[in-house]
Amino acid sequence: MAYFYFLVLVLFSWSCFFQTTHGLQTYQIQLLLQIRKHLEYPSQLQVLDNYNGQDLCNLSATAHMMVSCQGNFVTELKIRGEKLVNISGFRGYAIPNKTLSDKFSIDSLVTTLTRLTSLRVLSLVSLGIWGPLPDKIHRLYSLELLDLSSNFMFGSIPPQISRMVKLKTLTLDGNYFNDTIPDTLDSLSNLSSLSLRGNHLKGQFPSSICRISSLTDIALCHNKLSGKLPDFSTLTRLRVLDVRENRFDSKLPGMPQGLVTALLAKNSFSGEIPPQVGILTHLQHLDLSFNHLRGTPPSALFDLPNLSYLNFASNQLSGSLPEKITCGSKLGFVDISSNKFVGELPSCLDNKSDKRVVKFGGNCLSVEGQQQHQSSHCKEANTRKTGRKIALLTAIVVGSVLVLVLLAFGVFIPSQRCRKGQTFETHIRQKAVQDNPTTGVLPEVLANARFISEVAKLGTQSAPLCRLFSLEELKEATNNFDSSMFMGEGSSGKIYKGRLEDGTYVAIRSLNLLKKYSIQNIKVRLDFFSKLHHPHLVGLLGHCIDVGVQDDPSANKAFLVYEYVPNGNYRMHLSESAENCPEKALKWSDRLAILIDVAKAVHFLHTGVIPGVYNNRLKTNNILLDEHGIAKLSDYGMPIIMEENEKIEAKGGGLKSSQRQGLEDDVYNFGFILLESLVGPTASEKGETFLLNEMVSFGSQDGRKRIVDPTVLTTCSQESLSIVVSITGKCICPEPSSRPSFEDVLWNLQYAAQVQATADADQKSDSTS
Ligand SMILES: *[C@@H]1O[C@H](CO)[C@@H](O)[C@H](O)[C@H]1NC(C)=O
Ligand SMILES: *[C@@H]1O[C@H](CO)[C@@H](O)[C@H](O)[C@H]1NC(C)=O
Ligand SMILES: *[C@@H]1O[C@H](CO)[C@@H](O)[C@H](O)[C@H]1NC(C)=O
Ligand SMILES: *[C@@H]1O[C@H](CO)[C@@H](O)[C@H](O)[C@H]1NC(C)=O
Ligand SMILES: *[C@@H]1O[C@H](CO)[C@@H](O)[C@H](O)[C@H]1NC(C)=O
Ligand SMILES: *[C@@H]1O[C@H](CO)[C@@H](O)[C@H](O)[C@H]1NC(C)=O
Repeated sequence: MAYFYFLVLVLFSWSCFFQTTHGLQTYQIQLLLQIRKHLEYPSQLQVLDNYNGQDLCNLSATAHMMVSCQGNFVTELKIRGEKLVNISGFRGYAIPNKTLSDKFSIDSLVTTLTRLTSLRVLSLVSLGIWGPLPDKIHRLYSLELLDLSSNFMFGSIPPQISRMVKLKTLTLDGNYFNDTIPDTLDSLSNLSSLSLRGNHLKGQFPSSICRISSLTDIALCHNKLSGKLPDFSTLTRLRVLDVRENRFDSKLPGMPQGLVTALLAKNSFSGEIPPQVGILTHLQHLDLSFNHLRGTPPSALFDLPNLSYLNFASNQLSGSLPEKITCGSKLGFVDISSNKFVGELPSCLDNKSDKRVVKFGGNCLSVEGQQQHQSSHCKEANTRKTGRKIALLTAIVVGSVLVLVLLAFGVFIPSQRCRKGQTFETHIRQKAVQDNPTTGVLPEVLANARFISEVAKLGTQSAPLCRLFSLEELKEATNNFDSSMFMGEGSSGKIYKGRLEDGTYVAIRSLNLLKKYSIQNIKVRLDFFSKLHHPHLVGLLGHCIDVGVQDDPSANKAFLVYEYVPNGNYRMHLSESAENCPEKALKWSDRLAILIDVAKAVHFLHTGVIPGVYNNRLKTNNILLDEHGIAKLSDYGMPIIMEENEKIEAKGGGLKSSQRQGLEDDVYNFGFILLESLVGPTASEKGETFLLNEMVSFGSQDGRKRIVDPTVLTTCSQESLSIVVSITGKCICPEPSSRPSFEDVLWNLQYAAQVQATADADQKSDSTS
């Protein structure tokens, strides 16, 4: 009998338990549904549609959405939307199609969020959230990570945030916060990463931050902070300090011994570089460019054991560097250009024969190669004033000539410039590379980029890890690299199709390694490469390094194993003509969707990792389509692996051929992809010059009829087409500095797609009514 009671009791309590867990789950799901409603049904939360009472924890994560839970409580919520921030256009009110609507209430959103009381990780990125961040956010007292990057929040960062004592990571990058940083953050005793990049924060750097001894990363770059930086040397765990592009005007701050990355460029720091910087033995990346620093830098700096990147460009450093300076073995990039150095260049900087890129133009050194000023330029004050007068005079003369020219040629100028461009293009590009202090960043620096942004991390989490393949495995998969499996020759090696043991198809790229590569070196590069995960990049699944015969390093090969994207490339699809196969020809809206996908991928390559990955060989046949017509970019990032060549080419002072490509070049090449999307590949086969000439035709209706692909003409709205024509013209302008950023390109394409969607909807309703 007792046994029976016991059994009943057990059953009863079990059902109680079951019911409460069930009830809890329902409540948590309801909260998620409410959040989805507040966020105006972002596509990333579509999975909730299919929710049919299964275990909350089993909601499958995607690259853009993740829910985790523990004991039936939601503990992690990450959503990454697609609403990009446009820097100039926000005034504190909703902007249609860019922010959430004017019905959105950030207060209600946060209220709902605070009911998820067990939340430890909250990441809501690029969702168009707008408004001042309510101070009740602090009720999420269990939060360890808060990331609200890339939204439209403004006003002050609520001081109550300092009550969220469990916070380890606070990231509010890319918003419009425009007040001071609260001076109470020191109660966040476990905070390790504070990231407030790209806001409009003003006022002083709060000294309380220097009392958070757990801090490892401080990123406040691109704000309007001013005044004095405090002494950071008490922050013994600090690894990354990034305060670039602010208005700090003190002397350089004291830095802790463990610092690895110190980025202080583009402020107004003055005074000398203190000798203490020369004993920061962990330092890998030091950027002090574009400040007002004076004096002679301590020689010990050049000899720091792990330093790979050193940039002093555009300061007022002077004196001569001792001839006998030694350079650390990892030092790969040094820029001392546009200062007032005199005398000889130290031999370890002069000798370009080996492994470092050195920029020293715009000084008064007695060297050949990069342009130097007269020695009077580097003497103090008196000569400077007359120099300034001359500069002013020149500016006025040049300015008025320019105005006259502009008036004379009026609207013809843009098309004219684009037409002439081809002849001058090479020259201009080279110059741009020399002028730009950030090109020439070496792979060592890339490898050291330990701070992949949160956004990128979110993308990485659901992606499979990069695995090692054995050569046998790959031989088996490709039938010993049989010619029947040969798919083509990419820009950097042959590509084979393969079938792995588990039946999945892969594409295998084989690369011959140059003598210069050490295996260690190539592994580091591949390691970085494997971090580049994005839904619109052809994913790297793994690799295999085949060390050929010993003593013959040139026989070394690397095989990169990529996901197989089955549905041909964009160029092929563009060639389907309307006459032969009308149902296959890509409509304008399809083309826009593909272009947007690719632009997102490239934008990610430029900004998702630090420093960005440029020079991605953008071409229509490198854009692959999967079975759902989703575009994926292949052949990206190759310079990371092949850069060795370019380093050698870089030695002659000016950077040459392949390295002349840079940020703008991806934009330029993307311009041609846009052009091909407009006119089709047959027209584009006639070459760059032809196309540049034809840009003029886009100006008139007749010209458009003549040149634009008939499929595009019949499926586009004129307004949408005009937006793309205009951004195309900007992309392929010969002057790199007038080309738009990828963010601009992306924004314009999305805008064009919206305009097209509206036009299509109108047409549909017209035809039905
Ligand atoms: C949740 O997923 C786990 C493993 O994936 C599985 O064992 C379990 O049965 C699933 N639960 C429900 C309710 O679907
Ligand atoms: C940003 O927004 C402003 C105003 O809404 C607009 O004029 C500008 O063209 C936009 N910038 C880009 C890159 O689209
Ligand atoms: C911050 O920006 C908002 C919206 O643009 C504006 O209304 C407010 O006055 C600004 N506040 C400060 C302190 O500048
Ligand atoms: C800080 O972290 C430590 C170790 O992870 C933990 O024991 C401690 O409780 C945390 N402090 C707070 C205030 O959460
Ligand atoms: C230098 O870098 C290596 C590898 O990155 C690391 O193992 C070593 O600890 C670093 N040395 C210092 C002094 O930071
Ligand atoms: C853009 O916003 C307008 C409202 O201003 C709306 O009518 C239109 O449907 C939106 N377009 C898209 C694609 O969301």
